Amino acid sequence: MGWNSWNHFHCDISEDLIKKTADAIVSSGLSDAGYKYVNLDDCWQISRDSEGYIQEDKAKFPSGIKALADYIHSKGLKFGLYSDAGDFTCEHRPGSLGYEVKDAQRYAEWGVDYLKYDNCYNNDILPQVRYPPMRDALNSTGRPIYFSMCEWGQYDPATWAPEVGNSWRTTGDISDNYDSFLSILEQQVGLEKYAHRGAWNDPDMLEVGNGGMTTHEYEAHFALWALLKAPLLIGCDVNNMSADTLRILSNKEIIAINQDPLGIQGRRVLKTDQYQLWVGTIVDGIAVILFNTSSQDSNLSFTFEQIGITGQAIIRDLYKHEDLGKFPNSFSTNVPTHGVAVLKVVPLSFAY
Ligand code: DGJ
Repeated sequence: MGWNSWNHFHCDISEDLIKKTADAIVSSGLSDAGYKYVNLDDCWQISRDSEGYIQEDKAKFPSGIKALADYIHSKGLKFGLYSDAGDFTCEHRPGSLGYEVKDAQRYAEWGVDYLKYDNCYNNDILPQVRYPPMRDALNSTGRPIYFSMCEWGQYDPATWAPEVGNSWRTTGDISDNYDSFLSILEQQVGLEKYAHRGAWNDPDMLEVGNGGMTTHEYEAHFALWALLKAPLLIGCDVNNMSADTLRILSNKEIIAINQDPLGIQGRRVLKTDQYQLWVGTIVDGIAVILFNTSSQDSNLSFTFEQIGITGQAIIRDLYKHEDLGKFPNSFSTNVPTHGVAVLKVVPLSFAY
C-alpha cells in the first residue's frame, strides 16, 4: 500500500511535491491506515555518468534521490523508484536494460524499498528474458526491495511472473473513467489462482480522487481492487483530497480485506446484464461485493449457496460500518448505480 506519482502528476514531479506528499500521507492518517510506500514514477532520471551510473534530474530533484529517500524514511515511510526493462523509459529517460546490476546497486545505496519496472523500448525481447536480470540484481544487493513488474499483462505473465516479481501488471494502463475501470476488472476474471502471498496480480494503480468517476464508482473501484488483493497505490493528489476521497481510501475494514493474512484473491461468481457478485475468503469470514453495473439504483441479492456457505450468517456493511444482523439463507440490499455493497459475511458455523 502506498502512493505513486504517475496517475495524477505524470512527469510533473519534483522534490518539493514528493516531500509534501509524504507529509500529507502522514498528516491525513493515510500512513496509519497502512499506506507506506511513496513511489516516484517516470521522469526522475536524466542521464548516465561516464561509469554508467544513473543520474537523477537535478532540475526536479536538486538535493538528489538519496536525500529524498532519507526524508521519506524519516517520516516512517518507504521509498519507491521506477525504471524500465528497455533502452528508455516510456518518457524517453534512460532505461535499465544492460545496466541492471549498476542500477540495483545504486537503488540499494540510496535506500530504495520498491522498484516499478516498466516495459517500453524493449527491443522486442521477451519480458521473461528482460525481467529476471533485474530480480537477480535486486536480490544480490541484500536489501529487501519489492519488485513491481509493469509488463502490461503481455505474454501471459501469470504463468511466469510469480517466480520473478512480487506483483505483475495484468493489463495496459488504467484511465480515470468508469469504462476503463470496468474493462480492467473484466480482465481479472480467472487470474485469482495465480496470486498468493509475495506474488500478486496488479490491475494497475488507483484512480480514486482524480475526478473522472462518481463517488459510487470510486467506492466500487476501491473495494474491488481490495478484494482482488491488488497493490493499493493511491494515484491522486493527497494534498488536495475531498472528504469522500479520504473516506474511501482510509476505510480500514475494506483495507483489512486487502491485507488479510490468508492472501486469497477474491473471484467473480456471477455476472448478469445488471450486476456482478464477487466473493473472497478472509480469515474471519467471507468478503462479498454486490456491484451494480446497471444504470439505475437497484435492489440486489445473493444466496448463501452462491457464496459457498450453509446455515445462518451475520452480515456487516463495510462502507456503512454497520452490523446488519443475522440472516437465514440469503441477503438483499439497495445498491446505487455503478456502486457496490461491500459485506462481511460470518457464517455461524464458521470454523478456521
Ligand atoms: C506505462 C506504465 O504502465 C504507467 O503506469 C506509467 O508508469 C508510464 N508508463 C510512465 O511512463
